[in-house]
Amino acid sequence: MDEIMVVYWSQTGNTEAMAQAVAQGIEEAGKKAVVTEVSGASIDALKAASAFALGCPAMGAEVLEESEMEPFVMEVEGFAAGKKIGLFGSYGWGDGQWMRDWTERMVNAGAVVPGGEGVIAQEAPDDEALEACKALGKALAE
Ligand SMILES: Cc1cc2nc3c(=O)[nH]c(=O)nc-3n(C[C@H](O)[C@H](O)[C@H](O)COP(=O)(O)O)c2cc1C
Repeated sequence: MDEIMVVYWSQTGNTEAMAQAVAQGIEEAGKKAVVTEVSGASIDALKAASAFALGCPAMGAEVLEESEMEPFVMEVEGFAAGKKIGLFGSYGWGDGQWMRDWTERMVNAGAVVPGGEGVIAQEAPDDEALEACKALGKALAE
């Protein structure tokens, strides 16, 4: 698969910036990245893919955004087994619990999460977080 999808939800742009960095890593590794907001993403395209990335900030009380991302992730859980799924997202005042929970869900669904955990950034991603996102993109493209 020469094309890798990066599907995200972002309200204020922080997770979107991370999505762009994941895409950059994918492209640097020689594959094509397709970055899509979850509202326009195709579940069928992900079903057919062996690797993709999902991004969502911590919302509610340490949960995924509930109207678009949560139902989408529930669908992904149904076909995640054996796929390489990179996770990333931004948070504010918490300690990353939403990402630990999300990673556990995907692993329990049978996915391989590169690095064993999602890439997180507090609010706007700094250079270190952007590098971690690029490394995630490279790991997905391998
Ligand atoms: C309604 C709402 C709920 C939030 N809940 C949490 C939370 O539970 N834990 C946390 O660490 N940050 C929380 N945040 C902060 C966001 O995760 C943080 O601002 C993040 O950078 C937003 O990412 P975005 O720019 O991609 O939308 C919340 C923000 C909003 C607006």
